[in-house]
Amino acid sequence: MQKIIGTGLSGLVGSRIVELLKDKFEFVDFSLDSGVNLLDQQSLADAFEKNKDAVAVLHMAAFTDTNAAWEQKGDKSGICYQLNVEGTRSILNLAQKYNQYLIYISTDFVFDGTKTTPYLETDTPNPIEWYGETKYLGEKVITDSGYTNYNISRITYPYRAEYDKKIDIIRKVLTKLQNNEPVKMFSDQICTYTFIDDIAQALEYFLENKTTGIYHLVGSSSHSPYEMCLEIAKAFNLNKDLISASSLEEYLKSQPVGSRPWQKTLITSNQKATNIGLKFKTLPEGLEEIKKQINYGK
Ligand SMILES: NC(=O)c1ccc[n+]([C@@H]2O[C@H](COP(=O)([O-])OP(=O)(O)OC[C@H]3O[C@@H](n4cnc5c(N)ncnc54)[C@H](OP(=O)(O)O)[C@@H]3O)[C@@H](O)[C@H]2O)c1
Repeated sequence: MQKIIGTGLSGLVGSRIVELLKDKFEFVDFSLDSGVNLLDQQSLADAFEKNKDAVAVLHMAAFTDTNAAWEQKGDKSGICYQLNVEGTRSILNLAQKYNQYLIYISTDFVFDGTKTTPYLETDTPNPIEWYGETKYLGEKVITDSGYTNYNISRITYPYRAEYDKKIDIIRKVLTKLQNNEPVKMFSDQICTYTFIDDIAQALEYFLENKTTGIYHLVGSSSHSPYEMCLEIAKAFNLNKDLISASSLEEYLKSQPVGSRPWQKTLITSNQKATNIGLKFKTLPEGLEEIKKQINYGK
């Protein structure tokens, strides 16, 4: 079995990847719990040396709280920059030292959200907030390094059937509707929601084939958050009258100067990934799969 070093394996995305792929790969968990702090170069270097027989590194650990990241804007000593940029630099250097294939999980937040047609891997990023900027700087650490044995996989709004530690946006809305609580969401923003099980299938392919380059591992449909709520109500047969529309544009106007900017239109294309045979569900298909996995209504 191929040995894979993984960071962020306890997170929303990472823990599902491990659940689905643990019989195919031997994952070595580099986390605070296992005594590896990505911010501590020595602890990281020791852990790599101990696992130099690993063939690949799946780097998912990140500072992912976008609002908290905005509070640190421009602060290179802040945890967001340190983890997303410097942590990635340390991982890259060590992967390169041991000649290991590196997958870096990134985000559509590297884009500014002004393009009205789908974002492609060839589009130039232009992040507008600090989380996206640090993730893009993490990408650049890799792409500018001269090391070619890498894959950058951008994912968007990941969701899954179950995981208590972090509730994704789909389960947040589902829970509210199940509790008969009203839900108000933007109708003038577009996002691409991605079923994490599909990300796992793509990463399995990459780890098997050592595919290099930049890929968008994203869902096959894009929706406004308001439409997303309606899809959930439809799939789970819940009361759609609880759902109302609000406006991102109006929201942003009401915010004080200096507030965190939001990307408006993040339609992301998975064409490059589907061209090599990878498959990604639309949001309605992903919701049907969740119903099956949680035995909904049975
Ligand atoms: N969630 C999203 O909406 C989204 C969207 C697009 C892209 N992404 C990207 O997808 C990846 C996974 O995101 P996620 O939502 O699954 O993340 P998450 O649930 O917030 O988990 C973050 C992970 O990073 C680990 N970590 C944090 N600080 C660390 C440190 N100093 N040393 C070692 N490990 C550390 C955490 O470990 P502990 O559990 O020990 O704290 C955890 O496993 C990230 O790269 C993120 O940028 C996420």
